Amino acid sequence: MVEHIYFSDDTLTLTLLDQRFLPVQEDFFVCQTTDDIVKALQVMVVRGAPAIGVSAAFGACIALNEALNTPDWRVTLAHLLEYIANARPTAVNLRWAIKRMRKLWLENNTIEAKDLLALWLKEARLIQQEDIENNRKMGFFGGELLQDGWTIMTHCNAGALATAGYGTALGVIRGAIEQNKHIKVIANETRPFLQGARLTAYELAKDGIEVSVACDNACALLMQRKLVDAVVVGADRIAANGDTANKIGTYGVAIIAKEHGIPFYVAAPSSTIDIETLCGEDIPIETRPSKEVSHIGEHRLIPYNVKVFNFAFDVTPAKLITGIITENGVLRNPYQKNIAELFKHKK
Ligand code: MRU
Repeated sequence: MVEHIYFSDDTLTLTLLDQRFLPVQEDFFVCQTTDDIVKALQVMVVRGAPAIGVSAAFGACIALNEALNTPDWRVTLAHLLEYIANARPTAVNLRWAIKRMRKLWLENNTIEAKDLLALWLKEARLIQQEDIENNRKMGFFGGELLQDGWTIMTHCNAGALATAGYGTALGVIRGAIEQNKHIKVIANETRPFLQGARLTAYELAKDGIEVSVACDNACALLMQRKLVDAVVVGADRIAANGDTANKIGTYGVAIIAKEHGIPFYVAAPSSTIDIETLCGEDIPIETRPSKEVSHIGEHRLIPYNVKVFNFAFDVTPAKLITGIITENGVLRNPYQKNIAELFKHKK
């Protein structure tokens, strides 16, 4: 795949593959300012929890460079960091990445701006690198859960495009394939932004992995007809009790999987687990512009003056999740206890 998140140390710009136009066009969006970064996050030039985190870390470097031209760069920078962190509310990786950059600044609080920039550039690259490594580890652990010949349903895009590379849910599929298993994928189309139809299908087809796209509302029928062996999805935020926010529609897929005795796995790096969010009810759910639902492109689908719901995420209760695949292994129920245990060792 083309490089989809590229930062130039020379020009201090972030070049993003513009996911709004895939799969028809491979266009790039160049971020030179904090406004550009926030726009790229909000209109979903770049999307997917880990990819948002990596972009935000590079965004912090752009913000720092911008703050240098103001009377008090420290005050300006603090505001700009908050501006980036608030670009989207649900995916915790965004706040997680900004928190990590802030921590480094706090640990070196007397540092000159140019030295902080050097530290941050290194840190942002590290976040990017670690994400790929973590995805590969998840691919290994998750790949072991899938059997040769299985068809995996996934919802949204939790692939290379949604991360620094390789993917979380799609990383698990890649991991199984690297373990010489023959795996087929069903990508739910994922209304309204069509991450499944446009992005998951795009990257799997490019990599020669067999993929079919199904309407979101075909899920029950496909499972009833035994055309799905397991579900693997990504996550935007996992609460301390294992409740998991992911793209709208995921909760329904999990309920239907339970009804049909089909395992339902979540694949996410530990940076997506937020132990400060106690349960699913505490996860903020983003609502997005109604035009994403009422239109396809510029073409209106529904009558004028009719309201729409556009919740971007829903929360799957932990009890419906067979396992959470992380870079540290597979977490199982009781999630509350096992997540607490994982984070105890991380400190
Ligand atoms: O609105 P999006 O496209 O950013 O939502 C993305 C998802 O819900 C993904 O499934 C999730 O971030 C996992 S990405 C590895």
